[in-house]
Amino acid sequence: MNVRDAIMKRRSIRKFKTDPIGDDVILQLLEGARLAPSGSNTQPWRFIVVKDADMRLKLQVASFNQRHVGQAPVIIACCADIKAFGEFPERIDELIEAGALPAKSREVFVPALKKGGMTADIKWHLMIAATGNTDIAIEHIVLQAVELGLGTCWVRWFDDDRVKKLLEIPKNIEIIALLPIGYPDEDPPQRPRFTLEKIVYDEKYGKSLSPTGEVRYS
Ligand SMILES: Cc1cc2nc3c(=O)[nH]c(=O)nc-3n(C[C@H](O)[C@H](O)[C@H](O)COP(=O)(O)O)c2cc1C
Repeated sequence: MNVRDAIMKRRSIRKFKTDPIGDDVILQLLEGARLAPSGSNTQPWRFIVVKDADMRLKLQVASFNQRHVGQAPVIIACCADIKAFGEFPERIDELIEAGALPAKSREVFVPALKKGGMTADIKWHLMIAATGNTDIAIEHIVLQAVELGLGTCWVRWFDDDRVKKLLEIPKNIEIIALLPIGYPDEDPPQRPRFTLEKIVYDEKYGKSLSPTGEVRYS
């Protein structure tokens, strides 16, 4: 399966078979997440693999009783370490060592951050960056799952405090999504999407890519 096929085939799956998922398969999904890109390679994502039936049920209840959460044989709680950016100088050094950035990057980036200090504004942006970066890693898992014949559903509608308590998540860690994973027991059609006309513009916001106003990929 190529990437386009995986993108086309993916659906949010809300009905799973009870078949278990092999540990190797779960590790392959997580390897997909590990290789995701992140700002300055900060890799803020952290994952908790939940298989225990009792805990899955508790997570279902904490997710306002969304049944697909508990029904899936595995739930990956996808989290972001808000403090990951604190190791920014080390990550920059690694990128320089790997030849991805020029050596002068360290002199430019690191003092700039130190000079400004950790203002509330910077902290807010780091938080946004950590959550955004983790979203990318989650979608790697989601698309890798399609190739392996698995279904997933992003779940963000849950009682944050309750899930944090259940999974003993420390203060600097935010839960970005719960990802129930299992072999699909449904094959839903593609869900509605906006047209390309509505979401894509030519050079400037609001200008259509086509003189007729119709933008289509065949
Ligand atoms: C950030 C995010 C949060 C979501 N939260 C939930 C959720 O709590 N429960 C749920 O059943 N689906 C959830 N979804 C799935 C969306 O409803 C779904 O992606 C959308 O309806 C489009 O359908 P599709 O994924 O099958 O294409 C979420 C999706 C995303 C990306």
